Amino acid sequence: MHLILLGPPGGGKGTQAKILQDAYGLVQLSTGDMLRAAVASGSDIGRKAKAVMEAGQLVSDEIVIGIISDRIGESDCRNGFILDGFPRTVAQAEALDAMLTERGIKIDGAIEVRVPDGMIVERITGRFTCAKCGSGYHDKFQRPKVDGVCASCGGTEFSRRADDNAATVQSRLDAYHAQTAPILPYYEKKGVLQVVDGTLPIAEVTKRLKEIIEGAKRG
Ligand code: AP5
Repeated sequence: MHLILLGPPGGGKGTQAKILQDAYGLVQLSTGDMLRAAVASGSDIGRKAKAVMEAGQLVSDEIVIGIISDRIGESDCRNGFILDGFPRTVAQAEALDAMLTERGIKIDGAIEVRVPDGMIVERITGRFTCAKCGSGYHDKFQRPKVDGVCASCGGTEFSRRADDNAATVQSRLDAYHAQTAPILPYYEKKGVLQVVDGTLPIAEVTKRLKEIIEGAKRG
């Protein structure tokens, strides 16, 4: 199974990709996570990406296409993957088509998790993650069962992303509408685009995504 999760920043792509990864044994491929790892490591790519990400703009196509092209060739991707945050421009979508064709892989679904701009600031500014295992939480919508303790690993240190502030959110939304939303018709024309209502509670969104996946499995 090869899926693409599309949608605005803070729309719930990462939250759902992690749930689907565990449910179906697929690998979550998040270009945002890969770029943040590059920034943390101080690599060449990380140095180039840092300021761009903090400004809420898109990192160059060349960099992210290179990262994904290397990653999907790794052995753990053989059983399928969920692309989360890639592609984000028409050029990236075209490059993805070329790399998948080369490997004989077809996309089973491109799913837009649709959330209006008005809900995004609250989603993003309330987000935090466990510093030890990376599990995601939200101040209001997804609190750990015990305050201050990660439900997955028991960790007690949490972090917030440098770009998760109200000022940067607007730039990220602008980039989404100008550069990423145009790929929705690209996948619609291919007949693989499906839309899920991302304003529903997390478990409801998961239920709808699983229905789509089960439908794709049946062919
Ligand atoms: P990236 O890390 O991909 O960020 P993003 O697209 O802005 O998406 P987010 O990770 O912020 O949101 P999400 O949809 O995963 O939401 P989440 O599930 O966490 O990219 C960061 C930066 O890297 C970009 O700005 C760019 O600079 C660069 N970059 C990355 N990929 C690139 C590419 N391909 N090309 C160029 N540049 C690239 O949910 C958010 C919060 O809401 C969480 O706290 C969660 O608990 C909560 N929540 C989730 N679902 C629900 C729900 N249904 N109801 C209530 N709360 C919910």
